[in-house]
Amino acid sequence: MDRLLGRTALVTGAARGLGAQIVKRFAEEGAHVIVNDLNIAAAKETATKYGGDAFACDVSDSGDVDRMFKEIASRKMEVDVLVNNAGISGLEGDNQAEERVKKSVMIAEAAIKGELPEIDPPILEATDAAWSKMLAVHLNGTFFCSRAFVRNLRKNGSKPETEPAVINMGSIMGTSGGAGSGAYCAAKAGILGLTRSLARELAPYQIRVNAIAPGYIHTDMTSPMAEMFPLLMAQTPQGRLGEPDDIAWAAVYLASYEAKFVTGQTLSPNGGWYMSQ
Ligand SMILES: NC(=O)c1ccc[n+]([C@@H]2O[C@H](COP(=O)([O-])OP(=O)(O)OC[C@H]3O[C@@H](n4cnc5c(N)ncnc54)[C@H](O)[C@@H]3O)[C@@H](O)[C@H]2O)c1
Repeated sequence: MDRLLGRTALVTGAARGLGAQIVKRFAEEGAHVIVNDLNIAAAKETATKYGGDAFACDVSDSGDVDRMFKEIASRKMEVDVLVNNAGISGLEGDNQAEERVKKSVMIAEAAIKGELPEIDPPILEATDAAWSKMLAVHLNGTFFCSRAFVRNLRKNGSKPETEPAVINMGSIMGTSGGAGSGAYCAAKAGILGLTRSLARELAPYQIRVNAIAPGYIHTDMTSPMAEMFPLLMAQTPQGRLGEPDDIAWAAVYLASYEAKFVTGQTLSPNGGWYMSQ
């Protein structure tokens, strides 16, 4: 308890899923929480539950991000923990989502049997727009929010216990790769590179920057992938998918004073699915 007392934490894409659980644990640890999301009604609900504030903003739009940070500052709040969590799977609103997941399973099963898949490689169906949107939300969003965060930090230094921290949401897909999800994997790999670069750049300013690379976690994002779950569980030494709390505690640790010597790292709660980042 109280590991984040006195901190103000902005979590993007936190109306639901991993972000909402991070907000819950941060609030329990004493932080004032700011919930960002595209979906402001849901963001407000989450914020109200944990005594925080809610701000709508599309993280892929730099003007919108700068406006949000200005609004936060104008309300006399100083964000000293930023969690760049907002993200998309690319399956949102896609009426072919089930079909696409099925194809990924078919390709994986063919590979296991050493057979040539009967369907074309998914890259042939990937559009320019889908590629650009994926990179815009994950990678541009992480860059825009990190820049605005640093710009808005108070300039007169901080005590070690309240050292500013950035936590970027990567994924095991950023290092392992994943068939049929090239844009997602590229965006997450980019986030890991940006994390390491910013960690070096910002260490002299006493700002820590780390990433979390979750394995497969039960959220609304992964529910359309249910057909893949048996395969994923069979590949996971711990034999299960993760729960949002498995990720929230990693975020609490990386934001807290306990992680004072940790920067540029990727913490990967994934049940053993992937063992090196
Ligand atoms: N669930 C998993 O298995 C898993 C695994 C690895 C990484 N991740 C990553 O964790 C993060 C959260 O995933 P989740 O499973 O909680 O997803 P989710 O779909 O449940 O929640 C994502 C939230 O982000 C918001 N959002 C989307 N685009 C936005 C934008 N442009 N600006 C602001 N908000 C936006 C959505 O409205 C939603 O509330 C994502 O970055 C995701 O890629 C998830």
